[in-house]
Amino acid sequence: MRVIEVAPGIFWVGAIDWNIRDFHGYSTDQGTSYNAFLILDDKITLIDTVKKTKTEEMFERIRQIVDPKDIHQVISLHTEMDHSGALPLTMHRIGRDKPVYCSQMGLRNLKSHFKDDLNLIPVENGGSLSLGKRTLTFLETRMLHWPDSMFAYLPQDEILFSSDAFGQHYAGLERFDDEIGLDVILPYARKYYANILLPFSGLVLGLVKKVQELGLKFRMVLPDHGILWRRDPLSIIGKYVEWAEQKPTRKAVVVYDTMWHSTETMADALADALGEEGVRVKLMHLRSCHRSDVITEIHDAGAVLVGSPTINNQMFPTVADMLCYMKGLKPLNKVGAAFGSYGWSGEAVKYVNAELTAMKFNVVSPGVRSPFVPEDDIMRAMADLGRMVASALPPAP
Ligand code: FEO
Repeated sequence: MRVIEVAPGIFWVGAIDWNIRDFHGYSTDQGTSYNAFLILDDKITLIDTVKKTKTEEMFERIRQIVDPKDIHQVISLHTEMDHSGALPLTMHRIGRDKPVYCSQMGLRNLKSHFKDDLNLIPVENGGSLSLGKRTLTFLETRMLHWPDSMFAYLPQDEILFSSDAFGQHYAGLERFDDEIGLDVILPYARKYYANILLPFSGLVLGLVKKVQELGLKFRMVLPDHGILWRRDPLSIIGKYVEWAEQKPTRKAVVVYDTMWHSTETMADALADALGEEGVRVKLMHLRSCHRSDVITEIHDAGAVLVGSPTINNQMFPTVADMLCYMKGLKPLNKVGAAFGSYGWSGEAVKYVNAELTAMKFNVVSPGVRSPFVPEDDIMRAMADLGRMVASALPPAP
């Protein structure tokens, strides 16, 4: 198992989860990695651990560098179990009384998970910890994405340990952006942003501003998942600003489910009409496309058009799932509309509209409902809806 020296005296000692395909409801079709880092200094320091099931893989890497008992201290950048699951066993092996430094909120969260089994020492926001020749400085990043999240910064090396921020769920032997190429890795970073960080976009913009004011320089940005940024670390920070701003684009996502193809026929007509108006369209059937891929497409779209048949006086269950997921992720600046077929009651469009309105979408139409199979008048109504949505989007550049 390879150990990677990220910078002189700083090693990647994480683990690769090649085959995880569901990360608490997020589809990880290329797996993920849990990045942990070992800093060799007067006080040997481990930054984060890994998922509990990957403990031995991390230790196998650590043992290639030092005797684990020589580790002086551990930093926990946030409590979530993909980075802290291995913490109790780690402390048992390196010495139970050794300190685990965490944020003030981390103290509460780690205690909640591990009771009083760890020697937890909270650090101040902006506080420092001497490792010997190096000093770690801590920056709280509450709700990016947990209440206890924080960054750690090594000014001597200009390296930022960014916890989950700037990560991607990607498993591979490549460790650095220049080994894989931006065109390959950025789609994974964007999916990660859309599914993990999107609801905290305002905080992302505030944090980037604060970091700029502090005048921090970055030679490397090392997230807790996926590829490490060393070729041009400012580029991923710039991407986060772009993704957080959520400027509307001339793109529409038509997301739907269908029972006997009537709602699907309506979706096709809507997509055609949008295309005629120069709108870039993604047509996504909810039993073919995972919710985490749909929200990734929605993230940079200007319009979200939701089709649902009515079943048992309700919207279709997959549509309810998607709306629930989307509502929690709080996408901004979207045009919205609903459509769908029904047999005898037809409540789905009303319920979808209520959800889109609750999400503060610009709902441009009361929606289009088709009894059973759409006839010509319904197809014309879908074309009209497409033109209405197109006119509410930014003009083509
Ligand atoms: Fe990768 Fe919030 O854990």
